[in-house]
Order: sequence, then C-alpha cells, then structure tokens
Amino acid sequence: MKKLLYQFDTDAIPSVFDSVVAYDGGADNVTQLGGITPKNCLPLVEGAIYTRAPKHKKNTAIFIGGSDLASGQELFTTVQNLFFSNFRVSIMLDSNGCNTTAAAGVALISNSIDVKGKTAVVLAGTGPVGQRAAVMLAMKGANVRLTSRQLERSEHSCELMDREFGVKLEPMVAADDNSIANALDNAQIVFGAGKSGIQLLRAEQWQNHPDLEVLADVGTGRIPGFEGIDMMDNNEERFGKRIFGGIGIGALKLKLHRACIARLFESNTLVIDAEEASLIAQSLV
Ligand SMILES: NC(=O)c1ccc[n+]([C@@H]2O[C@H](COP(=O)([O-])OP(=O)(O)OC[C@H]3O[C@@H](n4cnc5c(N)ncnc54)[C@H](OP(=O)(O)O)[C@@H]3O)[C@@H](O)[C@H]2O)c1
Repeated sequence: MKKLLYQFDTDAIPSVFDSVVAYDGGADNVTQLGGITPKNCLPLVEGAIYTRAPKHKKNTAIFIGGSDLASGQELFTTVQNLFFSNFRVSIMLDSNGCNTTAAAGVALISNSIDVKGKTAVVLAGTGPVGQRAAVMLAMKGANVRLTSRQLERSEHSCELMDREFGVKLEPMVAADDNSIANALDNAQIVFGAGKSGIQLLRAEQWQNHPDLEVLADVGTGRIPGFEGIDMMDNNEERFGKRIFGGIGIGALKLKLHRACIARLFESNTLVIDAEEASLIAQSLV
C-alpha cells in the first residue's frame, strides 16, 4: 500500500524543502496543499482518516508546515481535535523547521555536555526555532533564558511555551553590550536562533567568557550568528568551548526530519511536536 503524506502548509505556496524531505523520508506520494487553516481543513482531515481500514491507516500521514509557527500550532491542534477513536493518522508539526532544527541543535549540545542544571541562553529566541529550542533545553533540565531585543516579545514567547508545554523560561532582553552581558552572566550554554544573516555576538563577547562551555548557532546566512565561528563547525573546539554551526547542525536536522517522516508511517497514532522530535533526535546522535 502506498505511503501518502498530506502536507498542510499554512502559507499560500507550500514549501518545496518540506516536500523533498518528505520523499527522502520514505513517502511514496506527497500532496502539497497551501493556505490551510483551521476553518478549511475539515474535509481534508476526513479524507485522510476515513479512507483506509484500521490496519492500513498507518500508510496515511499529515505534515503541518509553513512559515508561521502560531498558525501551524493552531492548525496542528485543530486537526488532532478532529481525530476520534481509531479515526486518526500520524501527524507532525514543523513550521519553518522549528522542531527538527531545534531538536538537532539541542541533541548535539546535550551529547556534548550534561545540560541538566546548567544555565542556557537562547539568543533571539522569539522565532519558531528559538522557542522550540528553549522548550527542549528546559525539558532536559536546563534553566533557560529566552532573549529578544524587546522584553515584551520575550515575555510573550515564554508565556506561549509555558501554556503549550508547561515549561518555565526566563524572559530577558539582549539588545546591546550591557544587556547581552547580563543575559550571558553565569551561563554555560548559548543557542543562537536569530533571523538569518544577523550577528548576535561579537567574538570578544563569547571567546573570553569565563563560564560558557558550548555554543550552537543555527544560522546559515553569510554572516554567522556568533562572530568567529564557522557554520560547518560540528563539535569544534574554539577558545576552550565546544562550537556547533548552522551547517553542522543542519546535517543532523535533515537526517532527523527524514527519520520523523519515516516514523509517521510506522503507526497511525504518532504525534511529533517538540518532545517527540527531541527524543528522535537524541536517538540519532
Ligand atoms: N541550520 C538549519 O538547518 C536551519 C534550519 C531552519 C532554520 N534555520 C535558521 O534558524 C534561524 C532561526 O529561524 P526562525 O525562523 O526561528 O527565525 P526568525 O523568526 O526569522 O528570527 C528569529 C528572531 O531573530 C530576531 N531578529 C530579527 N532581526 C534581528 C536583528 N536585526 N537583530 C537581532 N535580532 C533580530 C527576532 O527577535 P526579536 O525581534 O524578538 O528580537 C526574531 O524573532 C534562522 O537563522 C534560520 O535561517 C537553520
């Protein structure tokens, strides 16, 4: 029986990236649907859950993507609320690669040091990747600070993650030298999750830091998030600290994304969000 993946994208034009990885992850056919919202998804979900006998339902799955995490999260919840009894299929949320990118970065960090009890700072953590990275680090027992250039934005992200995952994150500002130094004070881990091509730390802000042990930056733009690292870094030692760059993390992110797609077709009950993506990532490092 063919493995069918329905890609519900909250953007008008569905992601090419997500469809390529879906095929590489083992889907026999990927149906890309754009502009999907909680209001128009009902017939699509019904088509997925009513069409195959119970033992064959694992061959149908839903992937929710798009550039906006809040819209993706809302659609993800709505679709699951339409499932009942055994009328369900496996489903994954990865708006803007939020879960797979964050899970890959956090798995590499926690493979390099024990994060439990450590202080971790997610710089520019208000985007999809940063929010999920903060959640995953907190789930692993780190004390997590999530920064923004504006306190209200970091507070809003921390509230959202508390509501969705029950994790307590500390909102902080990182906007200039003083506030960045304050955010990094006594921290052992830094996760850079800024918009592509934005420098978050100058070299002297991390290279001479007395407490930092591991730095991971997911950025793949021409300018790295942390000055002086290389985006190919994959557990590279620089200035006595372990460094992971955007491509170093990206290799695991792609492997993880493909593995998640493959898992969707193993049962009809799997739900992949932050926690499950993090568990699968950990099994791959
Ligand atoms: N390595 C991989 O495989 C991979 C995969 C997917 C994504 N990525 C990368 O992951 C990163 C995060 O993605 P995302 O979608 O979560 O990011 P995003 O939403 O585009 O941006 C994250 C945050 O960056 C901050 N920001 C924006 N402009 C800034 C500026 N000029 N100076 C300082 N901060 C600024 C904003 O925070 P505030 O406004 O709150 O300050 C924003 O919320 C991107 O660099 C993306 O390219 C990597």
